[in-house]
Amino acid sequence: MAEAGEYFSGKLLAVKVLVIGPGGREHAIVRALSADPYVNEVHCAPGNAGIAQDVTTHSIDAQAPAAVVSLAQQLASDLVVVGPEAPLAAGVADALIAAGIPVFGPTKAAAQLEASKAFAKDVMAAAQVPTAMAHVATNTAEAESALDDFGAPYVVKDDGLAAGKGVVVTSDRAEALAHAEACFEAGGTVVIEEFLDGPEVSLFVICDGKHAVPLSPAQDFKRIFDNDQGPNTGGMGAYSPLEWLPAGFVDEVMERVAYPTLREMEHRGTPFTGVLYCGLAVTKRGIRVIEFNARFGDPETQAVLARLKTPLGGVLLAAAKGELDDAEQLTWSKQTAVDVVIAAENYPDTPVKGAVITGLDAANAIDSVHVAHAGTAADADGNITVAGGRVLAVVGLGDDLAAARKAAYAGVAEISWPGAQSRSDIALKAERGEIIVANESK
Ligand code: AMP
Ligand code: GLY
Repeated sequence: MAEAGEYFSGKLLAVKVLVIGPGGREHAIVRALSADPYVNEVHCAPGNAGIAQDVTTHSIDAQAPAAVVSLAQQLASDLVVVGPEAPLAAGVADALIAAGIPVFGPTKAAAQLEASKAFAKDVMAAAQVPTAMAHVATNTAEAESALDDFGAPYVVKDDGLAAGKGVVVTSDRAEALAHAEACFEAGGTVVIEEFLDGPEVSLFVICDGKHAVPLSPAQDFKRIFDNDQGPNTGGMGAYSPLEWLPAGFVDEVMERVAYPTLREMEHRGTPFTGVLYCGLAVTKRGIRVIEFNARFGDPETQAVLARLKTPLGGVLLAAAKGELDDAEQLTWSKQTAVDVVIAAENYPDTPVKGAVITGLDAANAIDSVHVAHAGTAADADGNITVAGGRVLAVVGLGDDLAAARKAAYAGVAEISWPGAQSRSDIALKAERGEIIVANESK
């Protein structure tokens, strides 16, 4: 008999996985792991009300490295998968590595690729990865000079972690400067950069420090309102794959972005293991990196993993153990996936919590629809309630984008609570063939 975690015909047997995180991304990961025939136990900490319906959850402080190690030891986990950036930046992966527990997710040093935009820019410069030109500013005079250097539209980014909400893109110079000053007042620095014009792509690359395997590209929608209006959010919806991408796009990102970055991180003595999330703009002058994240994207993961046919556990364990094979080809469903986020009233400002959510069962009962929970809790009567900013992601699968959108929005139509917000135009431009990739030169 094979032991837990042992390879058998290139696959794994009887693996126990602990997933760390509270959100929709983690629900998608839990779902994919639960469908993996070689994974026999999935736990999540802290999880949310939806995850708790599927697997055992544990209410620990997921950002406390010692608490995560102790839970993983108690559960005899063969693999810990860290979902969000905060535990990574807090050193959860380092503590697990020190305890000899395989972890999918970068060390604190490697997670700097996400935690500090200035660090990411430095790595990109050293690795000659194409990105927006940028200046780091530490005071008002430097900020003004950088804004005037690049001109409108202005892009001003808080240097630290800000859950996707630290970036202001505006043609209003006063608004751009005000954001920079707010960051200085909070004791931070800002990165001011050239505006990148072109459709955005999220490409998740699974890395083991040396080797890398790309997932299927996705696109997400950052602004709160239809037609990309209003403030930036963590993401209001996503779809995958992207039919409009030029042939060879993924290979080009691997060659020009992922491998050079991995080599540079290894060279610095901080090899990167986990998801290298390449946030890209496809501009008329070629591919440019907008940002790196050190984890799966949310809500792109809900769409991407809904199409993955290769069992996820084996891929993540191989990455955690440094045993990924570059030649590994993942297999994908031919279907398209769309997910639409339903957010709380007043998100992305202070979300209104506590409302009882109705219609979840009806949405999940629709063919080709499932609901990933993000900010949800269960009350004493067993009702599912709003407990965060982004509350749910309704995922629809279909033979084409139109069918997938139709499914996702049929699910959204079933669900309600007072003040619930969702965009009505997720993946609409792509469905209409309105996404244009200009190509002047590389
Ligand atoms: P980030 O936190 O860096 O991902 O930025 C959030 C969002 O702001 C991105 O997804 C883009 O929509 C937008 N953004 C960031 N940087 C730029 C840029 N240089 N040019 C245009 N849009 C940008
Ligand atoms: N969807 C954007 C992010 O995960 O950062």
